[in-house]
Amino acid sequence: MKIQKVLISKDDIQSRIKFLGQQISKEYTDKNPILIGILKGSFIFLADLVRVISTPLVIDFIEASSYEEKESSGNIRILKDLDINIENRDVIVVEDIIDTGNTLNHIIDILLYRQPNSLKICSLLVKIKKHTLNHPIDYFGFEIEDHFVVGYGMDYKGMYRNLDYVTLV
Ligand code: IMP
Ligand code: MG
Repeated sequence: MKIQKVLISKDDIQSRIKFLGQQISKEYTDKNPILIGILKGSFIFLADLVRVISTPLVIDFIEASSYEEKESSGNIRILKDLDINIENRDVIVVEDIIDTGNTLNHIIDILLYRQPNSLKICSLLVKIKKHTLNHPIDYFGFEIEDHFVVGYGMDYKGMYRNLDYVTLV
């Protein structure tokens, strides 16, 4: 498969993340938030984001079954659960991309059932199409058209996660 032109450059990603980090640092001072990365796609975004957040925080991961191909089946299972208890804690769920919203809806339901003090969503990318997410997207990096993208953690059949920019396949 041929990689097409860069959609979002490394520099644009990094400066936007710095902005998000400053915003989160301000809003979570003294709250010791738990940042929950949704595996595997969010691992690079989470790693860069936490390094520009100045308030103390905790990191954990959750993994849900992902796309087989290029679209969502709507059938989501938890493959790896959190290690820590989020009850009464301030949680920020960190996602790579919101497409239909199915994955996040399912994960958010599971997390809210555990009664965190607060729960916010931070996604690097949001596709500008009608998604069915039942929760506001509190922080996001970029809105994109309804294209399938890879790079910066995101994959097609397991490949291209290591690109430091976002591109189309
Ligand atoms: P949703 O459940 O349809 O919102 O899809 C969300 C999940 O599907 C994300 O966590 C991604 O892992 C994956 N995904 C959705 N769109 C893309 C894409 O364009 N490229 C790579 N992965 C995607
Ligand atoms: Mg994902």
